[in-house]
Amino acid sequence: MADNVQINIDGKIIECPVIVGTEGERAIDISKLRTQSGLITMDPGFGNTGACQSAITYLDGDKGFLRYRGIPVEQLAENSTFVETSYLLIYGRLPNAQELEAFSDAFNEHSMIHEDMVNFFHAYPSTTHPMAILSAMVCAMSAYYPEFIKEEPTKQEINRIAVQLLSKVRTICAFSYKKSIGEPFVYPRHDLHYVHNFLNMMFSSPTNPYQIDDDVVNALQMLLILHADHEQNCSTSTVRLVGSSHANLYASISAGICALWGPLHGGANQAVIEMLEMIHKDGGDFNKYIAKAKDKSNTFRLMGFGHRVYKNFDPRARVIKKCADNLFNKLGINDPLLDLAKRIEEAVLKDEYFIERKLYPNVDFYSGIIFRAIGIPLNMFPVMFAIGRLPGWIAHWKEMIDDPTSKIGRPYQIYTGSLKKDYVPIEQR
Ligand code: ACO
Repeated sequence: MADNVQINIDGKIIECPVIVGTEGERAIDISKLRTQSGLITMDPGFGNTGACQSAITYLDGDKGFLRYRGIPVEQLAENSTFVETSYLLIYGRLPNAQELEAFSDAFNEHSMIHEDMVNFFHAYPSTTHPMAILSAMVCAMSAYYPEFIKEEPTKQEINRIAVQLLSKVRTICAFSYKKSIGEPFVYPRHDLHYVHNFLNMMFSSPTNPYQIDDDVVNALQMLLILHADHEQNCSTSTVRLVGSSHANLYASISAGICALWGPLHGGANQAVIEMLEMIHKDGGDFNKYIAKAKDKSNTFRLMGFGHRVYKNFDPRARVIKKCADNLFNKLGINDPLLDLAKRIEEAVLKDEYFIERKLYPNVDFYSGIIFRAIGIPLNMFPVMFAIGRLPGWIAHWKEMIDDPTSKIGRPYQIYTGSLKKDYVPIEQR
């Protein structure tokens, strides 16, 4: 295996080291290319660019597997809890019983949000998308905990913000839902575990306490674990980029939430259900929509299909589809959208257009159907993704801050605008 790659630029040989990861992945280190040759590399969408070295998550898009800190995500989805998986991602290993108990206790300690922040919710129109509230509230937390807003927080301070964020974000999300339906907020309870607590804050009301269903709790727990990290995706790269300027963790996570919101990323779970509803209302003729997605003169895309990295299948989609089937059987739910989704998947997997381009169902294709069955409203779907992705964002921010070699993120460009010209006063234009 070569240690170096030579690039011949106008007869000048530039030696670029090859970096090899623990799983044998290889990268050409071009970090000295510009200073040695004056050239930069172009890679729109960063399809071939490694922005960092990371020990958090490994995925193989061709083989279709995903591991957090070495552990296959399917094993975590089956056996772990979201709190334990968060610990694993943030601290690099599974906790022992004492560590897990201390971590869970810290969640309880930090579950309330400052009562002044509660007033913010009342200032938003009830039609506000909960992602807007979430990103604003997370950034606003920096105003309430200014003691942590410093350029070099200690390890202890970072740990405190991490657990604070994990716990408070869940409360903020539930409050934003309550605000949207005009119901009084339900405060967090110390006697309930993470997912129970969230469902209780979402669905309990003074007249109708929420009846906890273990199947629902397990399904949500599994979904959160499957969303917990996905290496250098759009929102995580955003968190790293913002954090690379040494912006504080609240500000960096708030930016990540905004990046996640888009329908090509975490907003896809909402877009999938909107698409399925549209096809269902239109008589269920999904072939018409598949044809539309293949038509290059049409911008319509089949939401929930395709992935930048997975070119075989998305391992998360497989687990989620199985979970959807089990949950629907257990709860006796018959959702026409689940049947429609399965028929679309079946048709797409046989279609030459999708086969050629290696477009498979991604994590968002079936997750929305489960959120829907649990009773989570459509515009909260990306919020659920954000709750799930939070430990991954924190782990990446922390890894970057701890890395003495990390630098501020600042890509170059190739300028294609006008050549130098003089300013013309307005009366002469
Ligand atoms: N429907 C129809 N055609 C598609 C789809 C789709 N969902 N996805 C990709 N294609 C086609 C493209 O038109 C392109 O065709 P071409 O080669 O003939 O031009 C080819 O497949 C490659 O697509 P790109 O957009 O270049 O792939 P990229 O890696 O940049 O994008 C993405 C990946 C954004 C996920 C894309 O597949 C997509 O838009 N999917 C729908 C939205 C979605 O489900 N997003 C969630 C992703 S998972 C996540 O973020 C958690």
